[in-house]
Amino acid sequence: MAVDLGPFSLYIHIPYCAVKCPYCDFNVRVARTIPEPEYSGALIKELGYYAETDGWRGRELKSLFFGGGTPSLFSPESIAGIINRAARLFPFVPDIEITLEANPENRAHFKGYRDAGVNRLSLGAQTFQPELLRYLGRVHSPDDTRIALQTTQKSFDNFSLDLIYAIPGESLADLQADLAEALEFSPPHLSAYSLTIEEKTEFAYRLRTGKMTLAPEAEEIAMAETIERTLASAGLDRYEISNYARPGRQSTHNSAYWEGGDYLGIGAGAHSYLRLDEEQVFGRRWREEKNPLRYMDRVAGKGTAAMELENLDAAKAAGEFMFMGLRTMRGVSTGDFSRRFGREVSEVYPKIGAWVEAGLMEAENGRLRLGRRGLMVADEIFLAFV
Ligand SMILES: C[S@@+](CC[C@H](N)C(=O)[O-])C[C@H]1O[C@@H](n2cnc3c(N)ncnc32)[C@H](O)[C@@H]1O
Repeated sequence: MAVDLGPFSLYIHIPYCAVKCPYCDFNVRVARTIPEPEYSGALIKELGYYAETDGWRGRELKSLFFGGGTPSLFSPESIAGIINRAARLFPFVPDIEITLEANPENRAHFKGYRDAGVNRLSLGAQTFQPELLRYLGRVHSPDDTRIALQTTQKSFDNFSLDLIYAIPGESLADLQADLAEALEFSPPHLSAYSLTIEEKTEFAYRLRTGKMTLAPEAEEIAMAETIERTLASAGLDRYEISNYARPGRQSTHNSAYWEGGDYLGIGAGAHSYLRLDEEQVFGRRWREEKNPLRYMDRVAGKGTAAMELENLDAAKAAGEFMFMGLRTMRGVSTGDFSRRFGREVSEVYPKIGAWVEAGLMEAENGRLRLGRRGLMVADEIFLAFV
């Protein structure tokens, strides 16, 4: 299939945080003074570099996502400067989605972000239970989240909130209280992540040294089912393993990842993916220098901090297409797969037949998706594709 150079998605990483959460393994830095003007300047310079680079030059932008770290530490003026620069370099589609990840304690900035052009706020609520918030090492209180949500509602008709569940010590009643409280704010979108213990985090250390015990798997599954049921009855449908939305409010930006679209990531440690249609090369991915100071140095010298470039052959690109697409409830189109890779999906992955037989996967109307039982063991199934 010829790769179309239609609208693409832009991810901008702001790595700074006020504190490091004990569960987090994202590329973050806790700096006493944040070099906000210098870092914003580097992002703006790098945007200029990609506006002149094959694959991205002249293309329209369909989504822009400020992720972190904590983007809401940056002033609305800095965010406006970056958005304005992006708009001059890449034409925005009329309904472009511009999201910013925000922490509740930074609510004083929210209205300014709306004025800067952000049209979707994603709020890191995590939980409304004070003792669970403390366990997660968060600096905000449940009241901060409530006020932040009211502030969000005043400026944004499109917003999302993040919850984490299966936190050690969390009961089903705690989760139900979190869902009820979140729903009081009628969010158009909600992400509910089960607590993942990532290597080299404080939580991984606590688990290894017996200072922490995880919820039994059956409890986690019961929680996931409660989330799906409760949110569905409030009009928020599950459309990806951890994501729920009202009709038409699915995230354009994250959907680009799951649907195998092109995305450009700039900022320390950001990842990019560009589909290609060259002989034996089906896609290219790379990431940026992770250290923010070195990131800025590299951009100052070379215009970009891209490194670790990898060309994907058919097997790798097809695997990525499958496991990203299977994260969504719609699943993957088998027709798109064969047009892109020139072979039938069942031929490339013969195990699929057995998974369908076993009820882990469903094949219907030219699409393949995980069934209810498949979703519970999704990570094991994904291993077959990587
Ligand atoms: C990159 S974080 C940054 C957002 C924002 N700074 C905050 O902390 O709320 C994005 C989201 O990932 C989720 N997250 C990060 N690490 C996680 C983990 N180990 N397990 C589950 N969810 C996690 C949290 O819900 C968080 O809101």
